[in-house]
Amino acid sequence: MSKRTIVTMPGDGIGNIATSEAVRLLDAAGFEANYVHADIGWEFWKSEGNPLPQRTLDLLEEHGIALFGAITSKPRDAAAAELVPALQGKGHVYYSPIVGLRQHFNLDISIRPCRSFPGNPLNFVRRGADGGLDEPKVDVVIFRQNTEGLYGGVEWTNPPKHVRDALETHPKMKNFADTPSEDLAISTRIFTRNACRRITRRAFEYADKFGYKSVTVCEKPNVIRETSGMMLFEAREAQKAYPHIQLWDTNIDAQMMWLTKNPEDYGVIVAGNMFGDIISDGFAGLVGGLGFAASANIGDTCAVFEPTHGSAPKYADYEVSIVNPIAMFNTACMMLDHIGETDLSKRITAAVSKVVIEGKVRSYDMSKLRGSPAALDNGAASTIQMTDAVIAALD
Ligand code: NAI
Ligand code: MG
Repeated sequence: MSKRTIVTMPGDGIGNIATSEAVRLLDAAGFEANYVHADIGWEFWKSEGNPLPQRTLDLLEEHGIALFGAITSKPRDAAAAELVPALQGKGHVYYSPIVGLRQHFNLDISIRPCRSFPGNPLNFVRRGADGGLDEPKVDVVIFRQNTEGLYGGVEWTNPPKHVRDALETHPKMKNFADTPSEDLAISTRIFTRNACRRITRRAFEYADKFGYKSVTVCEKPNVIRETSGMMLFEAREAQKAYPHIQLWDTNIDAQMMWLTKNPEDYGVIVAGNMFGDIISDGFAGLVGGLGFAASANIGDTCAVFEPTHGSAPKYADYEVSIVNPIAMFNTACMMLDHIGETDLSKRITAAVSKVVIEGKVRSYDMSKLRGSPAALDNGAASTIQMTDAVIAALD
């Protein structure tokens, strides 16, 4: 059988160590692949005025599957100031390459599983009725629409007159009639039926395939009637093909309150872009946070797998890296599942579980230590030691 080709985009900061450690684990587990490196991130913004060079898009186009570490992003003016002198003042505008990738390849399905590993000291605990501590098992998978909504990028400060005129055809714009345009900031929330249909159907397909008893659509249709209303409508349509799966409907604000009350009750959750972002961080916090959280960005022709964390610049230059590579290992497992290597994925997850439950090798976050080089002297495992332990635990 020919080897798979995986595009690796380590990016910036800790994305580098996370990616190389994930590849080391995949090799040790016997996954046969060719890895092709692709450039992305801050270095290429500074030197080329483009954090997502065309050659990277070409590699993704060709191979269709990528492991992505993390990138560094900065606000527009701070970004422009860091361009090499030859590129200064030439009209280059910084944009996030991950948002760019999602839009370029229409990676509209984001999947973010939040599952607790037994024995993880970072797991959420609550007080039970008898006053004792209770650790609910969390097994939630969030389906986040990944390309539209409030992150769609259709926005203005000081909107042009024709935009303002068009908006003023809406009766509610009367409330803003006295505000001069230069004091108006507008970020739109555009949902399309096609995208709502795709994300809700994928959520139900997944719930069906993996035996979840419910899909919760988490929006706010009582207030954001049009967009949230469309997502809810499409979720109801999607549910018709799956009468054995319940459809629940929660509002984002109430859901944020309930997630620490009864997280074990939820299975698959589906939401628009921003609410999906919020709810997935909320649930990730119950199962270990950024050291554990993985995600997938899936389109019809391309899929990009990335940990939820960023480039963590404050840890990037440590001589011995202290960050937790498990987020990236979970990410690699999502990639394996996507390409049908489910046995390998299960083996790696079993090895991670074993290391977590044994509790002998724990990164600084799992040891609840402050992130600093001294964490290693206080018993925390380094990134490399974490990988070594997971490799040693492979059956
Ligand atoms: P971050 O995720 O890089 O770091 C926040 C904090 O979380 C870290 O200081 C550390 O305490 C902890 N942390 C992160 N990853 C960890 C790991 N694997 N193990 C243990 N602890 C970990 O987010 P921050 O500081 O807000 O952003 C840093 C840079 O990353 C910014 O430039 C931001 O724009 C970018 N970013 C990129 C993302 C991406 O590539 N998808 C996502 C989030 C932020
Ligand atoms: Mg986020």
